[in-house]
Amino acid sequence: MNLPDYKEAKSRKEKTTEIEKYIYNSNYSNIGYGKKYFVKTYGCQMNEHDSENICAMLEEMGYTLVDNYMDADLVILNTCSIRENANNKAFGMLGRLKNLKETKKDLVVGLCGCMAQEEKVVDKIFSKYKWVNFVFGTHNLHRLPIILNEAFLKGKTEVEVFSKEGNIIEDMPVKRTSKYSAYVNIIYGCDKFCTYCIVPLTRGRQRSRTKEDIIKEINSLIKDGYKEITLLGQNVNAYGKDFDYHYDLANLLEDVAKTGIERIKFTTSHPWDFTDLMIDVIAKYDNIMPFIHLPVQSGSSRILKLMGRRYTREDYLTLFDKIKSKVKNVSISTDIIVGFPGEEEEDFLETMSLAEYCKFDHAFTFLFSKREGTAACRLPDITSISGKEDRLYRLNDIVNKYFLENNMKMIDKVCYVLVEGTNKKKGSLFGYNENNKLVNFMGSEDLIGKIVPIKITKAKTWNLDGEIYE
Ligand code: 5AD
Ligand code: SF4
Repeated sequence: MNLPDYKEAKSRKEKTTEIEKYIYNSNYSNIGYGKKYFVKTYGCQMNEHDSENICAMLEEMGYTLVDNYMDADLVILNTCSIRENANNKAFGMLGRLKNLKETKKDLVVGLCGCMAQEEKVVDKIFSKYKWVNFVFGTHNLHRLPIILNEAFLKGKTEVEVFSKEGNIIEDMPVKRTSKYSAYVNIIYGCDKFCTYCIVPLTRGRQRSRTKEDIIKEINSLIKDGYKEITLLGQNVNAYGKDFDYHYDLANLLEDVAKTGIERIKFTTSHPWDFTDLMIDVIAKYDNIMPFIHLPVQSGSSRILKLMGRRYTREDYLTLFDKIKSKVKNVSISTDIIVGFPGEEEEDFLETMSLAEYCKFDHAFTFLFSKREGTAACRLPDITSISGKEDRLYRLNDIVNKYFLENNMKMIDKVCYVLVEGTNKKKGSLFGYNENNKLVNFMGSEDLIGKIVPIKITKAKTWNLDGEIYE
């Protein structure tokens, strides 16, 4: 049994990262024979990609996927702990699983992901959810077959959570959700310690995959017919900072562009580490999509300082303008937190004026959520919840207005859409264009997986309608 420990999780002493290969163990290949599994994923793309590894490992063990948890013999919740409501959702699902377990005694339930790294969550599992069969963290995903086997042998809750990140595991099996667009991890963990954020505790120290391993994975995706890759990391701009030689995101993007893959996206960017060279590379290669998710978090330099973001409002705007002027047809999206402890009306008005200036193509707006173990958790917070909600509504009014305004500018223009599938309700096809905007249009299913020119005919706040441009 290994339990989470925040003190260890915060430590950044270790400097070198070893690379380890995933080894398939045929001893476990019959555990799931004739049994069905269901994986419920919460949170970010990193978690979605982890679930692709989880599914593949379970299938190696003989399990088959079902799309309703009620039909499963094994249910795994891959959780997120970025905000309190993410935790609440997972606990809600555990409640439903408890009911199911009353009628289905052999049901096996596991919990993994970021919540498993939280001390309090594991305490709660031991006190209130003793019937959960196993818990494993973000650093030992690759040990799922072993942990599951232990849970069967022991017959009581098996918990294996390492607070210290381990090696980078290469060659993990993966069952990708899409046949055309794939996630590729480039960096794990985060060392930024923004004061509101729990990620440095749940995902550990920043560790970059080598260029060779990344390019090898991308080349094999190209061979398998993939058109698009999304390079993933909590802070992709920090890529390579943990190497003892110079090789950063600008170098990597250039090498990835040269593989010839049709579309490259990357997320998430931190303004602090965004260099001019990175902008130049993004501008230079047509297969690097002109779409950048650049979280600002607040428009007030005073609040940014309290958040530990290490840039000012002016720094952000300078970077924003530089990207807009250098990268042709670029769209920029952002994340904004409203109601950070100590945020006054005048700070909030600075966020509003920044949103007015930037006219973001998309923005995720959040109410600040107190996360135990983070520095902001201890800051005095006097604004009422209703006061914060009022600010969130006002901000959403502005950002939504610009989503629509930007989309309207697309009318009559032609963009290229990677067709992902059919929208059953509308009977249309859908996909994302170069700027990561969702586009619906009528067409034959043969187009799924292809990049198709589409003329935009109608703009809405959240998506666009178009027709095939011949
Ligand atoms: N409260 C609210 N929002 C948060 N985020 C991260 N931590 C918190 C928190 N404690 C938001 C940030 C980040 C996004 C992924 O989630 O905006 O960019
Ligand atoms: Fe969290 Fe900041 Fe790291 Fe992003 S950069 S994961 S917000 S600590």
